[in-house]
Amino acid sequence: MSQKHLVYEDRVNLGSYYTPPKIVQLAWELIKSHIDSKTTVLDSACGYGDFLKNSLKDYGQPYTIGCDIDEDAIDRAKKNTDNVQFLRTNALSNVSRQKFGIPQQTERLIVVGNPPYNDRTSQIRHKIKNVNFDVDEDIVSRDLGISFLRSYNKLKADYICVLHPLSYLIKQTNFRHLKEFTANYKLINGLLISSGEFPESAKHTPFPIIIALYRRDTEGMEYDYIRSFHFRTADKNRFCLSDFDYITGYIRKYPSKQQQPVPDNSLFFWTMRDINALKRNRTFVQEYSTNTIVLDKTKLDYYAYVDVFKRNIYRLPFYFGNCDVPIDDKLFKQYRHYFISDAIRHHPYLEKNFEIKPIEKEQTETKLDKYFKELLGKHHKCNPIFK
Ligand SMILES: C[S@@+](CC[C@H](N)C(=O)[O-])C[C@H]1O[C@@H](n2cnc3c(N)ncnc32)[C@H](O)[C@@H]1O
Repeated sequence: MSQKHLVYEDRVNLGSYYTPPKIVQLAWELIKSHIDSKTTVLDSACGYGDFLKNSLKDYGQPYTIGCDIDEDAIDRAKKNTDNVQFLRTNALSNVSRQKFGIPQQTERLIVVGNPPYNDRTSQIRHKIKNVNFDVDEDIVSRDLGISFLRSYNKLKADYICVLHPLSYLIKQTNFRHLKEFTANYKLINGLLISSGEFPESAKHTPFPIIIALYRRDTEGMEYDYIRSFHFRTADKNRFCLSDFDYITGYIRKYPSKQQQPVPDNSLFFWTMRDINALKRNRTFVQEYSTNTIVLDKTKLDYYAYVDVFKRNIYRLPFYFGNCDVPIDDKLFKQYRHYFISDAIRHHPYLEKNFEIKPIEKEQTETKLDKYFKELLGKHHKCNPIFK
């Protein structure tokens, strides 16, 4: 159900993108076997309460609490749903079980929902309502979603089944920001969906969202656990980061002080982030700026690889969006000539840097097609309409 009562600015600032029913259903599939009458189910950013009205009767009548900072949403939720304790409160300040009215005798606390995940520093400044809320010092973060995950840890929830950007887990810097959370929780199930499933976000480049099920666990999890985790996808594929080798093992993604431009003799490349950024950004550029890398010419073929990769991103499903560029180095070495030919065709000034004669277009494209099909295997999107 799409939220209707907020103006654009408030929607952005509160991260109010309500979850379509079929996705709520997918989350329930993950959690339902853990719910019974001795359970308390909490959605501390519940909007209209859609995660809570999911035929609770069928799941042994748990005690159910919904909360949101947005008064109008809570009013609507109260009308929509019976048997749920709703309260209007800021879920990120004075976080404790008592605050949410979680019964002391509860055997199991389960948090469900789709908390907001926006960057507080990019909030829209005018017409702000409800937005300058306090966040407890021990859970504060630039990103509201990270604060919400930390709040569940503070509540010592036994299970957490929420949606959040996959980047929280797979980008190592984000994973480090979740230190206390990852010290106490283990991901036990993860289904990947595209942000494009949310009607409001359809205009943007889709990014991967995980419907994650975490279990409280004193062993927690390390980044390696995530690297080898088998994420499920809606088309029944399994996606595992460590199934691929990445370009970061071969070239630098960011500028370095050691590498300064030499007049008339340097080549430049745009700073690389993840695949979604590569989709938007340029690759080889002819002028130096703070956003460019001065190329190590001994690695030029790997930069050519990234340049070719950019033109082939349409072959990848959405869940690669926050990954680095994958590469099969052994195979790439066999196909190197074709990659370089393609890069030269798009950036003719590069030709003098390679001691090869470019191969003609048609043959190059056939070979590149082979390479990408082999690299991506079951993840390759064959259908050219995706182009
Ligand atoms: C992504 S929406 C999800 C709503 C609902 N759970 C759903 O999926 O349909 C995020 C919700 O978080 C609420 N919210 C934002 N900041 C909050 C805070 N500090 N405390 C409680 N709720 C908050 C917003 O008002 C919004 O309803």
